Amino acid sequence: MSALFILARLIHISTGVFWVGAVLFINFLLGPSVMAAGPDGAKVMQQLVKRRYYEIVVGAATLTVASGLYMIGADSSGFEAAWFATRFGQGISTGMLAAVLAYILGVFVVRPALYRMIALGGQMAQASPGDRPAIEQQMVATRTRLITVGGAAAVFLLVAVSAMAVARYL
Ligand code: HEM
Repeated sequence: MSALFILARLIHISTGVFWVGAVLFINFLLGPSVMAAGPDGAKVMQQLVKRRYYEIVVGAATLTVASGLYMIGADSSGFEAAWFATRFGQGISTGMLAAVLAYILGVFVVRPALYRMIALGGQMAQASPGDRPAIEQQMVATRTRLITVGGAAAVFLLVAVSAMAVARYL
């Protein structure tokens, strides 16, 4: 086993665990707590954004995907079709597909919705009473998108972890 492969595996598993843990935590624990806390919850979201939560998670996800692709290249002797027909290859490919779907949802849907939510929160704080119902309506729609799509990304990641964890024993 080459040192580079061992390094890729170390990076892959460490960043993958962080990615999945962060997404599950925000979707199922932090998100609902923030919403229940109302305006104080919005302050917590602003602090998370300030600390570059989103960029850190996407950075970890990118490292997971890149190191995973490198390992697939090494395992399959340069993406040979025969490897993808093995049980191990099929298990890893299933996990890869689920992880890539989660990545795409995270970057193209969750990210814009999160920043929209924060912008709307800022508008709400300065809005006149007459403008508030319209902003509130947009906030409800954005929140629903965040919950639905964020939840779907979390489920895809659970599929990815499960497939990665058992692929070797299929
Ligand atoms: C595009 C996304 C991904 C790709 C291409 C990918 C690829 C791979 C490959 C090729 C291996 C086998 C390495 C070997 O031969 O030892 C592997 C193992 C593993 N992956 Fe992924 N992976 C991805 C996403 C994830 C995610 C999101 C997690 C979450 C934690 C994860 C966790 C693991 C674990 C724990 C192993 C070790 C399995 C074992 O040793 O039996 N992977 N991955």
